[in-house]
Amino acid sequence: MKVRIKKIEWEADGINSYFLTSLDGQDMPAFEPGAHVDVELKPGLTRSYSLVNDPKQRSYYEIAVHHAIDSRGGSRHIHEVWRVGEVVEISVPKNNFPMNEDAPHTVLIAGGIGITPMLPMIARLEELGRSWELHYVAATPERAAYVGRLAAYPAAKIVFDGIEGGAKLDLAALSESTREDAHLYCCGPGGMLDAFVALTKGRPADHIHIEYFSAETELATEGGYSLELTRSGKTIQVAEGETMLDALLSAGVDIGFACSEGVCGTCQVKVLDGVPDHRDHFLTDAEKAANSSVMVCCSGSNSAKLVLDL
Ligand code: FES
Repeated sequence: MKVRIKKIEWEADGINSYFLTSLDGQDMPAFEPGAHVDVELKPGLTRSYSLVNDPKQRSYYEIAVHHAIDSRGGSRHIHEVWRVGEVVEISVPKNNFPMNEDAPHTVLIAGGIGITPMLPMIARLEELGRSWELHYVAATPERAAYVGRLAAYPAAKIVFDGIEGGAKLDLAALSESTREDAHLYCCGPGGMLDAFVALTKGRPADHIHIEYFSAETELATEGGYSLELTRSGKTIQVAEGETMLDALLSAGVDIGFACSEGVCGTCQVKVLDGVPDHRDHFLTDAEKAANSSVMVCCSGSNSAKLVLDL
């Protein structure tokens, strides 16, 4: 849908908030805490951003964009090109990070810009009167977004791990001391998420919730296998040096994708036969073992042929 950039606010060093409204003044479509929108930046460049505002606030969507030094083009484009009043195109909200609203206690853990999906969660938890706590790690106070908004909540703990005398978040101690029936949510850099996954292994899988906003995904570009597309009747060879997505796009297959690194879930395709070489951070271990779907942007094949529902 087309939306207007109504307002841009500085949040922290390198982080701006963008307020997006409908063109006709109508409310934006409802969303749940944890949801994101895919933003089309230019042809072939789409990125996902968590919605930051309270879901009850329907007159706009707020997203926060960190201008990453190593940006592959998404955040740089927004910071350098987006201006107030312009019209941009976004998807309807999608939620890969839904919150269990009935949990007896909720623990939110955020690193850096990973704070963004936690804000609507906090708004909802407060509205429901639920028990929660937030642990937010940023490098320095200057680089920490939304500190002012969080100051209203005693349950929000913020640590700065990049300053003299700063503290580290002790994830092991946190995991150890958290009650067994709590639901835990983590969004942050890859190292934090890996540690979180390792430390929470013993907890029920459905109590552990992870949102990758980017990952060091090793793309499967070994090639040497074919894709049989049952709906279009095409057979495509994936050559060495290209991903499954590259091969599909070159063959003119219309397929949605956003992050291109296996974290957003946009490019998920049903597998009817064959064994994918899963490289993504989106599917659960059980889903990967079932081999019934594949994220084509990053994964490859362990069999000579994959039969896809495309
Ligand atoms: S495009 Fe995001 S997971 Fe493939």
